[in-house]
Amino acid sequence: MHASRFRLGVRFWYALSVGRLPRIGAPVHHSPRDTARALEYADAVAEVDTMIAGLPLPAKVRLLTAATTWRVHEDPTIGLGPIVVSDGPAGVRGEVWDEREPSLSLPSGTCLASTWDEHAARRYGEILAAEARQRGVHVVLGPTINLHRSPLGGRSFEAFSEDPLLTARMGVGYVQGLQSGGVAASPKHFVGNDSETERFTVDARIDERALRELYLAPFETVVKEGGAWTIMSAYNGVNGATMTEHPMLRSVLKEEWDFDGLVISDWGAVRSVVASATAAQDIVFPGPTSPWSEGLQQAVESGAVAEADIDEKVRRLLVLAARVGVLGSHPAPWADQSESAPGPEDRDLRDLAIAGMVLLRNEHHTLPLDGGNIGSLAVIGASADAPRIQGGGSATVMPHRVSSPLAVLRSRLPNARIHDSIGSPVTDGIVPFALRVVTDPETGLAGVRVRFLDERGAVVHSERRESCHLVWLGNAPAGAGVVEIDTIFTPDSTCRTELGFAVEGEAWLWLDGALHHHAAMVPDPEGLGAGLLSPRSSSAPIELAKGVPMRLRLRYRYPSGGEFFSGSLSVGLGTRTPADARDRMLADAVRAAASSDAAIVVVGTSEQVESEGRDRADLRLPGWQDDLVEAVAAVNQRTVVVVNSGAPVELPWADRVGAIIATWFPGQAAGDALADVLLGDSEPGGRLPVSWPAALASVPVHQVTPRDGVLDYAEGLHIGYRAWLQRGIRPLYTFGHGLGYTDWSIDTVTVADPRSGDGLHDDGACAVTVTNTGARRGSTVVQVYASRPDSGVERPRRWLVGFRRVTLDPGAQARIVIDLPARQFAHWDGQWTWESGTFDLEVGFSVMDVRRTASVSCAPDDECPAAETYGG
Ligand code: BGC
Repeated sequence: MHASRFRLGVRFWYALSVGRLPRIGAPVHHSPRDTARALEYADAVAEVDTMIAGLPLPAKVRLLTAATTWRVHEDPTIGLGPIVVSDGPAGVRGEVWDEREPSLSLPSGTCLASTWDEHAARRYGEILAAEARQRGVHVVLGPTINLHRSPLGGRSFEAFSEDPLLTARMGVGYVQGLQSGGVAASPKHFVGNDSETERFTVDARIDERALRELYLAPFETVVKEGGAWTIMSAYNGVNGATMTEHPMLRSVLKEEWDFDGLVISDWGAVRSVVASATAAQDIVFPGPTSPWSEGLQQAVESGAVAEADIDEKVRRLLVLAARVGVLGSHPAPWADQSESAPGPEDRDLRDLAIAGMVLLRNEHHTLPLDGGNIGSLAVIGASADAPRIQGGGSATVMPHRVSSPLAVLRSRLPNARIHDSIGSPVTDGIVPFALRVVTDPETGLAGVRVRFLDERGAVVHSERRESCHLVWLGNAPAGAGVVEIDTIFTPDSTCRTELGFAVEGEAWLWLDGALHHHAAMVPDPEGLGAGLLSPRSSSAPIELAKGVPMRLRLRYRYPSGGEFFSGSLSVGLGTRTPADARDRMLADAVRAAASSDAAIVVVGTSEQVESEGRDRADLRLPGWQDDLVEAVAAVNQRTVVVVNSGAPVELPWADRVGAIIATWFPGQAAGDALADVLLGDSEPGGRLPVSWPAALASVPVHQVTPRDGVLDYAEGLHIGYRAWLQRGIRPLYTFGHGLGYTDWSIDTVTVADPRSGDGLHDDGACAVTVTNTGARRGSTVVQVYASRPDSGVERPRRWLVGFRRVTLDPGAQARIVIDLPARQFAHWDGQWTWESGTFDLEVGFSVMDVRRTASVSCAPDDECPAAETYGG
């Protein structure tokens, strides 16, 4: 069937895309307002070289190591104000890790990617920009665009997907949304930081083709199309060179991709002077001391590093300063924007969380629940009351508030009897005390008294804090080495539990003056990793009596933090569920479920399981949550399991429950969003951005442990669904899968000519007619995969080449056009190459749910090759 014809070109240039500030002299296609900004920028760049010429070498070198953990040095002599950077990527924490300075907590990267919606990613970036502006932040350290190579990756919750195209599209939306607000993005971590084990030193061995087609691809797109103003270089090495010294910083990033922004190092990733400075690393974080602050000036004076290289780094830094509005007289680009940051109640956060929730299973229309007809509902799980809204590590923000599913369901179902039960802990570690049970002995106000002591025991700093999980990143008071926490703890239940702490180092815990527990944990050599941001717990048994206060004192001697992380420590104080509570807790949950019309069980992971700094050891739910689900499902046929994890976990009971929803880490709107979905006010919009295995053992690629410092990406191109397809096996839930509350058909597919003559794209598109065949308004994601059965080169069996979300009323049909970027049909063989001949297009609702096929043929010529295309 001859359908249509379009040009499938070899070029993939988006350099002039909207939102990117053009280079001087480049044609400008902007609104008058954008044009004004671009002119300001051009003026700034013109001034930058004059500024640099007037700066002595020490002043230039000084600028190239951060002033603090989160700030770049100012230089009033050239009108350079402070540039403040902040984690990122799912909120804007600011310069302190402090519950008294809360910020919005947005859904995790996996949740955002599950929307398969670039507009959602853009909105997400805009929210971050507004938040950053309010908090005086100029650079947000995100998005995380490493790939889910293995489900064990400890930081997968932060990253988007196992697929480079989906990751790239989400990345572009995020970067452009953020930068449209005048705040720089810092896509990270360039490149090969796809797992956490030995992350500072591991050498990822990645063949050239996999590197280009998988791992570099999202970075390429966020640079060329997204126009990212900074990039963060990773800790790890790739193919023998550590990333802050890697030739790719210059050859690929700056020369081939024309990246005109600033290469920021990951925190402590620069460990050399000459090798990193000559390899096109631009600035070192954190400061104030670094190998560069110690040795770069001398290296230039001795001729080991060219002064021109220093000038180039300073130029990039000053261009960033101009872009974010802190250079000279150039006003902040957002100065005249009246919009203020959305408040913590913002509907957007809730909508984003809903759009990312994935309905994995829904037997016999278990969901949505009919709120009007529910007489009683069991709401079970520790995460039902205190959901996990974010992953652990540097991505953590202090939320203003967290909406609790249990509390929201209670208020939304005022006439139903709600039976709540914890059933199982979600962590093997301590759970920090809630604010309501602790009182600062000094002021009598809620909280704890924190004192920093010097070597002689003298108090160097004292403050009241309102959290029992406290972190200082480089900002602990100078001169101290011990922290003491005093509080009056008034238990809110009578029970036998354990009382303890989470620290890295040595600590003592006294109760009413008597030593309760002492432990010395060997500090984690990976520094800022798990050891600091998610320290291990230690505890001892205790009988608590409700309402009877006791005086607690924790004394913690913290490690110095070494060269890079001095002044950094983390401490938690709280209770831990003893293992022998299991039977009692399960019995209580079963009682609740057995006497209810339906049961909602919220299971999930904790900060100890999914955190920066360490990979997961397995994919099991912590505690006895699997037993909990089995026990509840055995007594209640309408059991809905809500999986509150940032990445896949094993669900051994999956075929014995009515419905399963993956919420990921949904951010602070967790409870409201989940209740909307459970009660059918909203449809869960998510589609899996990652294959969801039944068991770790069946996962084709999961190795994250380096051997002799080397992590071999031996699978080459075949990660994620590509690997499952190669082996001819199915995961429990396939990449792209997700149900809604309505049904869909794909009626026709034609390969169409999407647009003509704008000179920017040589890409193709296909047109798909799709019908909402169900009874309610809803949305779905139409996914287009390519395959090339007769290919002369090794290829995945099928790979994603385009997708589009569509929302329709019941019975409505629409014709949607899905972009098919030319690059998706190229392979790397030392350059991008288009194999002539026919590619099959497979169109459906997941990588293994193909509904229609078409084909496109490619016949490259020298310039911009035309392609005959056929569809059907
Ligand atoms: C992480 C980065 C983060 C930085 C600052 C590093 O350990 O890898 O993602 O932005 O710390 O917190």
